[in-house]
Amino acid sequence: MSATTIAFLNFKGGVGKTATTVNLAAALAHYHQQRVLIVDLDPQCNASFWLMPPADWKAHVDGGRHSSFQIFQDEIMGTHRFDFDKAVVRAVPRKGGISMISRLDILPAAVQLITIEDRIHQNKYARFFEFLYKALKPHYKDYDYIFFDCPPNVYSISKNALYAAENCVVPYVPDFLSLSGFQLLAEQIEQFNDRISGFKGLRRRASIVGLLASHYKASKTHDQGLNELEVTLGRLKSEGLTHHEAKLLLPPIRHLADVSESTNEHLPVILHKPNGLGAEDYSKLAKSFHQHFQSL
Ligand SMILES: Nc1ncnc2c1ncn2[C@@H]1O[C@H](COP(=O)(O)OP(=O)(O)OP(=O)(O)O)[C@@H](O)[C@H]1O
Ligand SMILES: [Mg+2]
Repeated sequence: MSATTIAFLNFKGGVGKTATTVNLAAALAHYHQQRVLIVDLDPQCNASFWLMPPADWKAHVDGGRHSSFQIFQDEIMGTHRFDFDKAVVRAVPRKGGISMISRLDILPAAVQLITIEDRIHQNKYARFFEFLYKALKPHYKDYDYIFFDCPPNVYSISKNALYAAENCVVPYVPDFLSLSGFQLLAEQIEQFNDRISGFKGLRRRASIVGLLASHYKASKTHDQGLNELEVTLGRLKSEGLTHHEAKLLLPPIRHLADVSESTNEHLPVILHKPNGLGAEDYSKLAKSFHQHFQSL
């Protein structure tokens, strides 16, 4: 069996891509015994910092060598320095040297990823989108889920995630500004999927199969936003701009101090406050998320 591979993507920043990647991954590993790999693809390294104190991250990535950056660096430089077993940090997070979730691994990012976009284009690789998949494919069999935490754009690194993955999940804040980009994002994703479909063989195109809402506040605005999200999704689905089983996965994640505080502790919220509201939301969401992907 090969992993269910999912790109968490939205070109809008700050909508909860990283929070959902990290906290859903932790809940699936902890409560559902799923083997989960997070691949951090953002030069901001937020998923890496959420699960690793910066000093540990710095010592580990070793100037980028043991991170997702090295995959792209190797392709550009013609080197073979990326070593999956050395780059992946197993059973994160760790406190006092003790692993807290045995089935959760992360391939950290490095800030040097910021240099990749320009260099990929200077070198004019026709099939630049295959780099990530080629490096990670041998390890797909070792996981139940692989989550790609994308930067807030649909440039080359996110396109690598769309090629490496067979599914795309889009986190949203249910307000007007966030929703206004939904159609454009779905079009961009499908245009790219059309372009690469001939290269993917039997692997499925990474269409949007799920939407998630975060930073939710019980209010007329956000409830209207959730309704509009469902209406727009129905329309885009009928136009073939999403997977035909795409749905809004519930519950929405509330805007909570538990969640933002947990970043300071370098812990997923289910470990930071196991009985808090953040843990409650993410454990419910993990259940509906897992059911959805098992039924596809
Ligand atoms: N449910 C929540 N409640 C409160 N704060 C949250 C919640 N989810 C995320 N945050 C905080 O909001 C900020 C943005 O979240 P996050 O980093 O997950 O978004 P993102 O879409 O990954 O951003 P970027 O586009 O920069 O990668 C972070 O500081 C995070 O700690
Ligand atoms: Mg992020």
